[in-house]
Formats: sequence, structure tokens, C-alpha cells
Amino acid sequence: MYWGQGTEGESLYLLIPAAGSGRRMGSDRNKLLLPLLGKPLIAWTLLAAKQSRQIDWIGIVGQPIDWQDFKSVVSDLNLVDSVQFIQGGSTRQESVYQGLQSLPTAAERVLIHDGARCLATPELLDRCSEALRDCPGLIAGIPVKDTIKVVNSSNSVIESTPDRSQLWAAQTPQGFEVAKLLECHQEGIRQGWQVTDDAALFEQCCLPVKVVQGEETNLKVTTPVDLAIAEFILRQRFGAI
Ligand code: C5P
Repeated sequence: MYWGQGTEGESLYLLIPAAGSGRRMGSDRNKLLLPLLGKPLIAWTLLAAKQSRQIDWIGIVGQPIDWQDFKSVVSDLNLVDSVQFIQGGSTRQESVYQGLQSLPTAAERVLIHDGARCLATPELLDRCSEALRDCPGLIAGIPVKDTIKVVNSSNSVIESTPDRSQLWAAQTPQGFEVAKLLECHQEGIRQGWQVTDDAALFEQCCLPVKVVQGEETNLKVTTPVDLAIAEFILRQRFGAI
């Protein structure tokens, strides 16, 4: 375990949006608390953060109904002293904004990593943390494999086929200078922008966002089939658990 080892330079702060529900999972509870190979899903996300060399502080953005369960996961992982709980909002965008406002004042750069991406490796978190020391904004991403179509939502007819060689699938971690990201969120509130990731706010404000090579296995667990795939990947990674 590298937890708490620290590195040269400033500390890195990690926010984990975890305030969603289990609607698309068909579950009546937060999907991050569903069991995955004997642990709640969020425990795998936190384990990767714990094993990262670069991260010194973790904020879990959640809903009060889940506090008790999150606290027992954090305690089982011996992370009690390093984790802060922050009240989330009704969208991911709101949850991240609340997380940003709750960062310690010393936080200059922040990584944001969805709790639902429980297969991200510590190496990916470290790669993004390293890269964030040299740029104001970044995301993990991978080139898309499918041909992507833009489809008219009213008649389901294809409008265009973007050049696949320029398309990347956005993942998390996403990392930013805290002050700049806060300004982008505030501008988003003023303008009524609704986005599904933080890079989109940076882009809307004409700030550059670099792409760091992500991981094909870094899927966002959203539906029951994702849970089955995640279990398969973890078994491959760690042997039969
Ligand atoms: O729903 P989806 O999987 O796209 O959400 C991405 C991440 O954002 C999840 O980790 C989820 O817990 C989090 N989220 C949040 N606050 C919300 C909705 C989602 O922190 N209101």
C-alpha cells in the first residue's frame, strides 16, 4: 500500500461523486452499495484510490441515506482518517460542484473520479495525477471502437457520421485546477448548461482539456450487465476471489 506516502510537490485531492441512485441498475438502492465479488462496489473504487501513490485526501460526495453504509466501507479499508463525506446534489454536476466547495482551501488541483468506475487501476489514477501537474485540465479517455452516428431524436434518422479517428470515449478520472473548475461550474449555473462531465464545462469556457490514455476495462457500472462484466474483469485481474 502506498497510502499516505506522499510525493514531491503539492498534495492531490480526489473527489468521488457517489450520490446517484440505482435506477438504471433496476435497484432501489445506490448501485455503489451493490455487492461485487464480496465487497460493495464503491470499496473497489476506494481500494484503487488507497493504492495510488499520489492521492492524499478523498472526498466522497453522497446522499445522507448512504452515510452509514459508506462509513462502514471506509472503516473496513482503514481510510477513516483520510476520507471526508460531502452532501451531494440531484445531478452529478451539482454533486461535483458541492464537492469542489468542500475541498480544503489548500487544494490547488483535484481529480474527480466516478464511484461507479470501480475498475480504474491505481496506475491510471497515478498517470492522471502526474499529468495534472503540467496542465489545467485533463480526462482519461480511449479511442472509440464503434462507428458513431448522430441520430435525429424525433424521427430516428441518422444525421451524420463523425470521423471515427477523432472520437474518444470520455472516462474518469478527470483532473483540473480547482479555481478554474469552480469558475466553470459557476458560469455553467449562470448559463444553465447541463453537462454529464466536468470537461464539458471547461470546454464551454474555452479552456484546454488534455486526454490521457484511459483503460478499456475502466467501465462505468450502470446496468446489470456491467456488474457481471465488472465481476469477470476483477476475477481475471486478481484470480478467483
Ligand atoms: O448515473 P451515472 O452512473 O452516470 O453517475 C455517474 C457518477 O455520478 C456515479 O458515481 C454517481 O454516483 C454520481 N452521481 C452523483 N450525484 C448525482 C448523480 C450521480 O454523485 N446526483
